[in-house]
Amino acid sequence: MAENNGQNKRYGFGVVGCGVIGPRHARAVAALENAELVACTDIVPERATRYGEEHGCAAEPDLAHLLAREDIDVVSICVPSGLHAEVAVEVAAAGKHLIVEKPIDISLEAADAMIAAAKNAGVKLTVISQHRFDPGLVELHKMLEAGALGRLLVGDSKVKWYRSQAYYDSGDWRGTWKLDGGGALMNQGVHYTDLLRWCMGPVAEVRAICATANHDIEVEDVAAAVIRFTSGAVGTLEASTAIFPGFSERLEISGTEGTVVIEDGQIVVRELVADHGELGSYGTRVTTRDKSSTSAAADPQAIGESAHIAQIADLLAAIDEDREPLMTGTAAREALELVLAVYASAQRDAPVTLPLG
Ligand SMILES: NC(=O)c1ccc[n+]([C@@H]2O[C@H](COP(=O)([O-])OP(=O)(O)OC[C@H]3O[C@@H](n4cnc5c(N)ncnc54)[C@H](O)[C@@H]3O)[C@@H](O)[C@H]2O)c1
Repeated sequence: MAENNGQNKRYGFGVVGCGVIGPRHARAVAALENAELVACTDIVPERATRYGEEHGCAAEPDLAHLLAREDIDVVSICVPSGLHAEVAVEVAAAGKHLIVEKPIDISLEAADAMIAAAKNAGVKLTVISQHRFDPGLVELHKMLEAGALGRLLVGDSKVKWYRSQAYYDSGDWRGTWKLDGGGALMNQGVHYTDLLRWCMGPVAEVRAICATANHDIEVEDVAAAVIRFTSGAVGTLEASTAIFPGFSERLEISGTEGTVVIEDGQIVVRELVADHGELGSYGTRVTTRDKSSTSAAADPQAIGESAHIAQIADLLAAIDEDREPLMTGTAAREALELVLAVYASAQRDAPVTLPLG
């Protein structure tokens, strides 16, 4: 249990789900002075045993045993997306704070159940959207809050990544409606969907096309949508896992006072009216230089660790200060709603208005 000696509270962590992303939580916790990994569990016991050996924690036989431990204050939920709420409701009922991997879950009903469970139990909930903590995003969001881009006009996000068929075949939940809840947009694109929504504000309407272009899966590997924001701004959203060899994810935000472009979490373009002289009728053209990628475009293991560390640190600070974390369950629900609106529009071949009924 968290020790409070007046200054340094130390939080015990449990991890549920010891697959691809689970180790990132162990390494992030190890990087934080006020956190300690205590135990893990997985429905495949050998995975928990191996994880326990690799990360120096106990391997509990099941969730109930993990939740019974009084030395665990915070639980990271790293199971397949469609199981997030089911696990989270149990974790919250045990009085533990929640870190839930993205997406929050795959239906609004499940997201609502999770948010309500955390609220009723009086525990903090954050859903991983680690790119909110990338340096470029932190800076861009400050600029937007200060109104530096003026009235927002256009917001675009692109996640053009590559995942092989072997990636989809590597877990029986991947690429399924039942547990992945969708494809390139729900799983990979949700990161930048959240960033687009965070920067541009609420969405009024979506028109979308989705396709399964280059994989043997039941969900989409290409999603493209046009968006009208409540503010009157417009935008586009693209997500794919079919783009060889995979490219840096990109966010472009333009307002009456200028444009900021983010690539790989860094600002690569910052062009403000205030910094230019008079440009004349035809403006100018800004090119972005090619740069080596450190993104997860072609390798999910390559996702940088520092943003996970920053988000988990923010959750612990939120507990210490009894405030909301920067990334709330409600914000994660908004990103999920936008993803689901894209799917509904593509399925109906018609515009879809938000909020979803
Ligand atoms: N933030 C990111 O950048 C990022 C990256 C990868 C994955 N993720 C998210 O993390 C989650 C897990 O993805 P992954 O790639 O690690 O999947 P994975 O299949 O590699 O790992 C999931 C693990 O959960 C275990 N599991 C399944 N049901 C369980 C249950 N009821 N109780 C305990 N353990 C259970 C499985 O046995 C498996 O070991 C997904 O929601 C995914 O979207 C996030």
